[in-house]
Amino acid sequence: MCGIVGYIGREEAAPILLEGLSRLEYRGYDSAGIAVWSREDGLRVVKAKGRLQVLSDLVHGGADVHGTVGLGHTRWATHGEPSDVNAHPQVSGDGRFAVVHNGIIENYVEIREVLEAKGVKFTSQTDTEVVAHLLEYYYRGDVMEALTKVLHRVEGAYALGVICADCPDQLIAARKDSPLILGYGDGFNFLASDVTAVIKYTRDVCYLDDGEIAVLTRDGIQVYSHPYLLPVEKEHHQVNWEISAAEKGGYEHFMMKEIMEQPKAFRDTISPRIQNGRVVLEGLDIGEEFLGDMDRLYIIACGSSYHVGMAAKYTLERLLRKSVEVTLASEFRYCDPIVTDKTLALVISQSGETIDTLAALREARRLGARVLSIVNVVGSTIARESDDVLYTWAGPEIAVATTKAYSTQLAVVYLIGLYFAQKLGTIGREEYTGILDELQRIPDKIQRILERKEEIQYAASLYFNHASIFFIGRNIDYAVGMEGSLKLKEISYIHSEAYAAGELKHGTISLIEPGTLVVALASYGKLFEKLMSNVVEVKSRGADILGLTTESRKADMEKTADHVFAVPDTHPMLLPSLDVVPLQLFAYYVALMRGCDIDKPRNLAKSVTVE
Ligand code: AGP
Repeated sequence: MCGIVGYIGREEAAPILLEGLSRLEYRGYDSAGIAVWSREDGLRVVKAKGRLQVLSDLVHGGADVHGTVGLGHTRWATHGEPSDVNAHPQVSGDGRFAVVHNGIIENYVEIREVLEAKGVKFTSQTDTEVVAHLLEYYYRGDVMEALTKVLHRVEGAYALGVICADCPDQLIAARKDSPLILGYGDGFNFLASDVTAVIKYTRDVCYLDDGEIAVLTRDGIQVYSHPYLLPVEKEHHQVNWEISAAEKGGYEHFMMKEIMEQPKAFRDTISPRIQNGRVVLEGLDIGEEFLGDMDRLYIIACGSSYHVGMAAKYTLERLLRKSVEVTLASEFRYCDPIVTDKTLALVISQSGETIDTLAALREARRLGARVLSIVNVVGSTIARESDDVLYTWAGPEIAVATTKAYSTQLAVVYLIGLYFAQKLGTIGREEYTGILDELQRIPDKIQRILERKEEIQYAASLYFNHASIFFIGRNIDYAVGMEGSLKLKEISYIHSEAYAAGELKHGTISLIEPGTLVVALASYGKLFEKLMSNVVEVKSRGADILGLTTESRKADMEKTADHVFAVPDTHPMLLPSLDVVPLQLFAYYVALMRGCDIDKPRNLAKSVTVE
C-alpha cells in the first residue's frame, strides 16, 4: 500500500526522500512523487508512473530539486489508474498545498461534486485530491484551522502529510486508521509510514494514534488531538534492529534472504519464552478461570496469517479440546459473529496494520471478546489495540510474500497451545515435555531442509512451465497446502488451488488431465495411506505428482509419485513448520525461472491498509 515519508531539516530533502521511499518500496506501489519547498522555486512537485527509479532519474537522484523540507510518496492505485497525474503529492488549485495520503477518503465523490459546483478544477481521478482542494477552500491564513475543518469534513481512512507554501518551516501529519510514525532527530524530524524509511537517520520514534495531528519543525515535533488541538505527550520508542536487517545482505531477493533467516527467527521467537522446561509467556494475562469458561475461540486473520490460523485450528483443538473457528477478517466483521465476554479472539498479523484484521479486532472487542494478537511489527495498531500481544521476533520482513513471519507465527501458536493446555490440564507432563523438546529442535531441522535447497530448485526446473498446479493434503497437510498454493500464485502468477484431498472427487478432479501438476502433501503419518489413495486417483488421470513427505515415508511415496522431497520426521503437530519451507522454496524457484519480480509481485502490497 502507499508509502509516505516527510523530512524537515538542514540537508537537501530530495535525496533523503528518495532514499526513504526506496525503503518503502516493499509495501507495493505503481507510481511515486515528491514535493520539496525552496525559497527560489517555491513548492516543486515531481511525479512519475512506474518504479521509483523513473522518478529518481527525472530529478537526477534528487540533485535537481532543492530545499530542506519535503514530502515523498509511493502510490498503490485505488481510485484512478496508475499515472503521473494520479501520483501523489496532490496539489491544491492555487499551488499552496501539497498533500500525500495513504488510505481512502470514502465521501470524496460528494465533496468533489460540491467543490466542482463552486468552480474548483480537478486534475486527477484520486480521492486524495479533494483534501488538497478542501485545504485551499478552508484556508484563511491558519493551516491548522484549515486542516481541522478538512478532517471534520472527510470520512474514511487516512495517513496524511501536508506541506503549505506559506509555512515552509513546518510539515503537518494526521492519522485515522492508516499507520504513521514520527522520527525524532537532532535538527531534523521525519514522518513516515513505517520505521524502515527513517531508521538510517534515527531510531527514536513514536506512533501517531488515530485522531492525532503532528506539527514537525526542524527543532521538534508537537502532537495535538483532533478536533480541539489539545497537546498530547507521546511515548518514544527505540527501534532495536539494525538497518542491515532491512537490506538484502548479498541475496538476490529479500524473499530468499527471509527464507534463509527462518531458523534464527524461529529460535529468537521461542527461546526467550522457554524457561526451565516450561513455556513462559510474559505479559500474557489470561488465566485458568478465563480459559475454563471460554465459550469460543476465534482465529481472525487474512492471507498467510489466515493459513497459520488453519494450521493452528488442528493444533489448538487437539491440545485444548475446545472448538476453534478460523475466520477471514474481511468476513468476520460482516457476519454478525456470536461473541460474548467469554470469547477469545486470537488475531494474527505480520504487519499489525491490515485494515480488515484491525476492523475485525475492533468488532470483536466491541462485542465483548478478549483479544490476544500475534504480531511482528512492534508498536503497530493491532498490537496496541489488543488486550494481550505476543510478538514474533522475526525482524523486518520486506518481501511481499511472507515466509519468516508465517513460520514465527506458527511458533507462537505452538507456545500458546502448550501454555493454555497446561493451564487447562488437557495435556500430560510427558506429552508437554516431548512437544517442547521437539519444538526446540525445529530450527535445526529447518536448517537441514535449507541446506538441500538445490533439490527443490531441480524440482522447480521440471515443473515451472505448468499452467495449473493443485496442492492436496489432509488435516495439517491441507492447511500447509493452502499456504504453498498462495505462495506460488502470488509470486509466479501460475493458477493454483489447494484442496483437502478427500474433497477432490466431489468436483475438482474433473480439472485433472495429463500434464496437470499435483503437489501432494503426505507428511501427516496417520493419514498417509488415505492421502496416497488420492494420489493414485489423480495419477491415473494423467497428473504429474510432486510429493512432500517425511524421511521415514519417502520410499513409500516414491512408489507412486514422480518426484519426492522429504522433510525430517518430527512431532505431527509441528510438521507445518517443516513442510512449508520446501513449498516456499518451490514458489521462489518457479517464479525465478519464469522471470517474475519476486519481491514486488504485480498488484500486491505488503501491508494492506485499505479495505
Ligand atoms: C502473504 O504472502 C501475503 N502477502 C498476504 O496474504 C498477507 O499474509 C496478508 O495480507 C496478511 O497480512 P498481515 O499478516 O500483515 O496482516
